[in-house]
Amino acid sequence: MQSKDKQNKYIEYILFDQKTLESKIKELSEWVNEEYKNSSSLIMVGLLKGSFPFLAQLIKNVNVECILDFMTVSSYAGTLASTGSVKIILDLANDIQNKDVLIVEDIIDTGKTMQKIYALLKSRNPKSLKVLTLLNKQSGRKVDFNQDKYGFDIKDEFVVGFGFDYQEKLRELPYIGVIKKEIINKK
Ligand code: PRP
Repeated sequence: MQSKDKQNKYIEYILFDQKTLESKIKELSEWVNEEYKNSSSLIMVGLLKGSFPFLAQLIKNVNVECILDFMTVSSYAGTLASTGSVKIILDLANDIQNKDVLIVEDIIDTGKTMQKIYALLKSRNPKSLKVLTLLNKQSGRKVDFNQDKYGFDIKDEFVVGFGFDYQEKLRELPYIGVIKKEIINKK
């Protein structure tokens, strides 16, 4: 699974290639289908920008009726670690009261972003509120927050690609890779 990437000078190695991501995300779509099989009011909330490739792949195999909505929040603010202060740049377009809401996130690290978003959305009285994240960095947790479902647990590594950025770049890579240490150390 961890092969050298010859095409991108920023990548130390590929952590999850395209095929691995597709197959894991299919499993997660099946989880959504099972979890919401009796729901008629599912709203999937993608947290931008990181979650958009994950959400786009996820919905290919979701077969329950749903609405998509988005929020733009920022916690890293162009830095390498979470700043802890979560800024809401774009709020939801939909009223979520009495709706089944599934937050779709790319990664939970310290848990600070999700703790704040969860509390905010909870205060709007949804019928249910759950969290699905593609990556979970359990070792990074600084607050007590647990998602309902995740794809992969990762070590303390700086990942890019498939939505994950380094200074807003590299989100377009079709795989998730670990960035070369010297790139980060240069700064
Ligand atoms: C990243 C990521 C999560 C959050 C996780 O967002 O997408 O939302 O940080 O970190 P935490 O658990 O330590 O709070 P970022 O602010 O980089 O925005 P982005 O999605 O636009 O990349």
